[in-house]
Amino acid sequence: MSTPLVNDFDHWIRTRFVDINTELEHRYFAQQRREEVSHVGDDLKTSLLEESGEFIRLLLGEGNTDEGFDSGFDLLGNVGFVLAACRRHEIDEHHSTLKNASALAMQLGASLGVVPRFASAHLETHNRAINGKYKTFTHLEDEKTFLDYNTRGVFGFVRASEALLHTLPLGISHPVTLDLLNVARVALQQVVENNTALFNELDVDRFFYNVRPYYKTHKVGRHEYRGANAGDFAGINVIDLLLGLCRGDDPYYSQLLVDKFLFMRPEEQLILRDCMRRTSLMDAFLNATEEERNASWFKPHLQAFLAVCEAHGETARQHHEQLISRFIESPAAKYELTKRQDMTASGPPLEILLAALQKLHDLRTAAPRDDIPTRYNDVQTLKGFL
Ligand code: HEM
Repeated sequence: MSTPLVNDFDHWIRTRFVDINTELEHRYFAQQRREEVSHVGDDLKTSLLEESGEFIRLLLGEGNTDEGFDSGFDLLGNVGFVLAACRRHEIDEHHSTLKNASALAMQLGASLGVVPRFASAHLETHNRAINGKYKTFTHLEDEKTFLDYNTRGVFGFVRASEALLHTLPLGISHPVTLDLLNVARVALQQVVENNTALFNELDVDRFFYNVRPYYKTHKVGRHEYRGANAGDFAGINVIDLLLGLCRGDDPYYSQLLVDKFLFMRPEEQLILRDCMRRTSLMDAFLNATEEERNASWFKPHLQAFLAVCEAHGETARQHHEQLISRFIESPAAKYELTKRQDMTASGPPLEILLAALQKLHDLRTAAPRDDIPTRYNDVQTLKGFL
């Protein structure tokens, strides 16, 4: 249940807010230097601040504390959209609208157990469509393309993670575990197909200049919160951990999880926490006794397991070598913006982020590296069992 004010604000977010952002994006994009946004469309920015400011002031007064989790989470998303749009339009963070928006976001985030900003769930897995239209920042076709495919990609990973979770009580030798491993592989192959379609359909410049800027790091209250990215759901890490390609005791990987927890909805946080203490499928196959290794189920199950690892590695290769390279690295280099501090959603300079993402890529593809604990040798041992 939501209050009439919450509903009116939601309507504004779905209509006026999108119109204003779209008009600003057209103006930025029409310039020679498309990354310059200050002093462009000041009239529109004033409308954005005044109109959203009135809703936020009233909402703060209303005190939205007792409307249930979903309503609170949705409202946090809407306030978060305003904060993110103001960051994108480089509006002074000391403006009273932003101060009130921060106060409301912190109240909501703290009571819900999530970060006080919009997270990717608000745009992807928990973004309700009304008559076919879900919430976006702009009317631009490329934003919709990006979100359609991101949402499909996330659900592909979620399907794979659910199949793997179902294998836990069954064990690696159960006949139905073979079916579940095949389900996981197919779901990951669908992520790959989906990413290929995104790669082909998304316009590089539109994405770079008019879509990504809404995902920047920004301040809420005293603290800076990294931007949302399509990875802020438990499923991807559930796959990493259950396959055994990444491990919770690896400080690089556990840091990544620690940083990510509050960007996920609480039910996702629980799933991930539970997974961190499970034995991975890789370890279960490595620990099989000689008697098990000689049984008829072993080789087909192991083959199916290795095919899931291969498919997961392929999604990582593609994300790194295609999506990041084409849509971030190349345009940043082409337009000589690589050194800009706000080039990445998480904040660090691009080359540092790319090196960190390379590690993740190497873990997921079980690449031969001796400086980080990839499972290259273990995968070779398992292949030797076939
Ligand atoms: C994270 C780029 C699409 C899944 C990231 C990051 C970047 C990025 C730069 C690191 C965020 C940061 O810290 O700054 C892109 C680009 C895409 C794209 C340019 C397309 C144009 C997708 C899609 C998925 C996805 C479709 C599938 C669900 C992830 C995941 C992470 C992530 C899981 C978190 C890190 C990880 O666990 O791998 N992405 N991404 N991305 N993205 Fe994407």
